[in-house]
Amino acid sequence: MRNIVLIGFMGTGKTSVGRKLATALGLSFVDMDAIIEEREGRPITEIFATDGEPYFRDLERNLVCELAAREGLVVGTGGGVVLNPDNLSDFAATGLLVCLQASPETILDRVAHDTTRPLLAGEDKMKKILGILESRQPLYAALPHQVDTDGLTIAEVSEHIRRLYAAD
Ligand code: S3P
Repeated sequence: MRNIVLIGFMGTGKTSVGRKLATALGLSFVDMDAIIEEREGRPITEIFATDGEPYFRDLERNLVCELAAREGLVVGTGGGVVLNPDNLSDFAATGLLVCLQASPETILDRVAHDTTRPLLAGEDKMKKILGILESRQPLYAALPHQVDTDGLTIAEVSEHIRRLYAAD
């Protein structure tokens, strides 16, 4: 059973959609950030603050290798998984890559009160969202399947991906 790997910027709904989709398909949902936090015994914000982003990216990279070697998973990735092309090629070898997109306004709506994302911490979240989006959008846009989640419910996005998977 091929995996489904959900990719996309923070706040595009990877976790909520992933859970729903996994239930619909009878697959197991795994959330990369949650696994990393559980294994490290501390939240992502603390990992970034204490050991820095490169340390986190190493943990993320190792977890990609581990999950890409499994099957029957719906994987909710962290938004920065696209930064390393090896992550994408490893996941693509055993799974369907689907990129969730959302407008900066929708993203801001979804992360406005969030304190768990170190890259968006502090004042002027919109400026941070736009800055990171600008550098990453080409990486997200290059993924084979794109789903624009603006105005769609979690159930609608999940159903759309279920059809993509069935047709794959
Ligand atoms: C990150 C996104 C986060 C998390 C970390 C870094 C990013 O995951 O992995 O804070 O670089 O975009 P979500 O996309 O689940 O918020």
